[in-house]
Amino acid sequence: MEGNAGSICVLVTGGTGLVGKAIERVVKEEGGAKEGEEWIFLSSKDADLTNAAETKAIFEKHRPTHVIHLAAMVGGLFRHLRQNLDFWRKNMAINDNVLHTAHEYDVVKVVSCLSTCIFPDKTTYPIDETMIHNGPPHESNAGYAYAKRMVDVHNRAYFQQSGRRYTAIIPTNIFGPHDNFNLEDGHVLPALIHKTYLAKRDGTALEVFGSGCALRQFIYSLDLARLCLWVLREYDEVEPIILSVGEEDEISIKDAVDAIIEAFEFTGPVNYDKSKSDGQMKKTASNAKLRQYRPDFTFTPFQKALKETCDWFAANYDSTRK
Ligand SMILES: NC(=O)c1ccc[n+]([C@@H]2O[C@H](COP(=O)([O-])OP(=O)(O)OC[C@H]3O[C@@H](n4cnc5c(N)ncnc54)[C@H](OP(=O)(O)O)[C@@H]3O)[C@@H](O)[C@H]2O)c1
Repeated sequence: MEGNAGSICVLVTGGTGLVGKAIERVVKEEGGAKEGEEWIFLSSKDADLTNAAETKAIFEKHRPTHVIHLAAMVGGLFRHLRQNLDFWRKNMAINDNVLHTAHEYDVVKVVSCLSTCIFPDKTTYPIDETMIHNGPPHESNAGYAYAKRMVDVHNRAYFQQSGRRYTAIIPTNIFGPHDNFNLEDGHVLPALIHKTYLAKRDGTALEVFGSGCALRQFIYSLDLARLCLWVLREYDEVEPIILSVGEEDEISIKDAVDAIIEAFEFTGPVNYDKSKSDGQMKKTASNAKLRQYRPDFTFTPFQKALKETCDWFAANYDSTRK
């Protein structure tokens, strides 16, 4: 990582969320930080990053040399369907404020977070990093997707005009402790974990939205956090990189439901409501670029990571976001 020893300050926007908390754990409990580095984890209470003046004030306060930019309006399919406009406007504002202020404050490197749901709806599979702008995204999350795509436009333009090496990671579906387990606004896996917990507690049936046939690649937040640190320290491209388990590890929503049922030892009935949307049926992503750089990286097995997440949710039920 560029910068003199002792002078590195890494600012993590969205530091209180699913990914931010995982990075904090890797930095503080797994020895992820190097000597002399200062790590700052921000929440929206420290600064509303949709607001340019508040963004500037927080950069002025901490004077970071590096930024991991995670802050975003985030949510599952059903929240996207209701609030497409808000996803577009808030995420555009946050990203423009963070990248512009980072540039103004001479930040050496920014690693921003995109998502595989920003890729074109009609595409060939597997998706790779070159395809982001090849066609419209799935209409269910168009606002979020276009705002995220513009981060890549920003990064290329900052390189072209100012020589900045700002880059982006593209994770597949993330899960882990500190997720948003809200039944309506959460992503598919945390919402299903919450539903299964309630079905077991209350002795009711588990109702799953959609057919269960949609396919997804899931990455454990702690694996993603370890890879984020590697990107910050060693990945030198402006072009984004997909951070995901391999294509062979893609599973159906039904497979995920079965794994949650096993983790909670739930024995009640399970009903699939096919009148509800499945969202995009698949978005299979290639991790070939990651594997070229990191052939050695070991992902936590899905069932183990899921069990840890379910146990964390049950242990923190009263205080967690839900
Ligand atoms: N979750 C996934 O499956 C997934 C998949 C692919 C990509 N991503 C991307 O990964 C990144 C992190 O996602 P996550 O799942 O960790 O999100 P999350 O758990 O919902 O956390 C969002 C974070 O952003 C902060 N934030 C939201 N609005 C803000 C604002 N206006 N000003 C300042 N901070 C704000 C939140 O602060 P508060 O705690 O104060 O609200 C929180 O720290 C996002 O960029 C997301 O798009 C997520």
